Amino acid sequence: MAEKSFADALNEQIANEFGASQQYVGAAVYYDVETLPRLAAFFYRQALEEREHAMIMIRYLLDTDEEVHIPDIKSQETSYADGSEPVRMALEQEKRVSDEIFSLFELAREIKDYRAEQFLTWFVKEQVEEVALMNDLLNVVERSKENLLLAEEYIARESLGEGSSDPTAPPAAGD
Ligand SMILES: [Fe+2]
Ligand SMILES: [Fe+2]
Repeated sequence: MAEKSFADALNEQIANEFGASQQYVGAAVYYDVETLPRLAAFFYRQALEEREHAMIMIRYLLDTDEEVHIPDIKSQETSYADGSEPVRMALEQEKRVSDEIFSLFELAREIKDYRAEQFLTWFVKEQVEEVALMNDLLNVVERSKENLLLAEEYIARESLGEGSSDPTAPPAAGD
């Protein structure tokens, strides 16, 4: 039998998603200070997406009649050694979240919680996209190391990370 209930594990993930949101606001602020508005906008958008992930998880706990815990706010970095560091940090973060989602998925399987497993499938797909997106952005910022304005142009030209909202996403609290 699993040690943790699925609701406890999902509450922990809600904290991770809000944490990621705050971390991305920190990255956005860094680029804003550096007058790199496209990189800043990219991370402000990602921050909203992470908040949305937390709200989707909150909705799920509400719908399944479980307790919801709203986590404390931890301070986040707003200064970095160079312009590619926030993206490297973001890629690491997305890989870590993928592992966290896989652990939740494993737990759902172990306790035969079929609705939890079904709920998580969207996040499995979402993480494939988020890791790929950060990989792309890291390639671009590393190639533009001497001149991040090239990365700015790329983000604008390709509308990187600007996809319209996903109609297959599960409902979020407050929607
Ligand atoms: Fe997320
Ligand atoms: Fe993410």
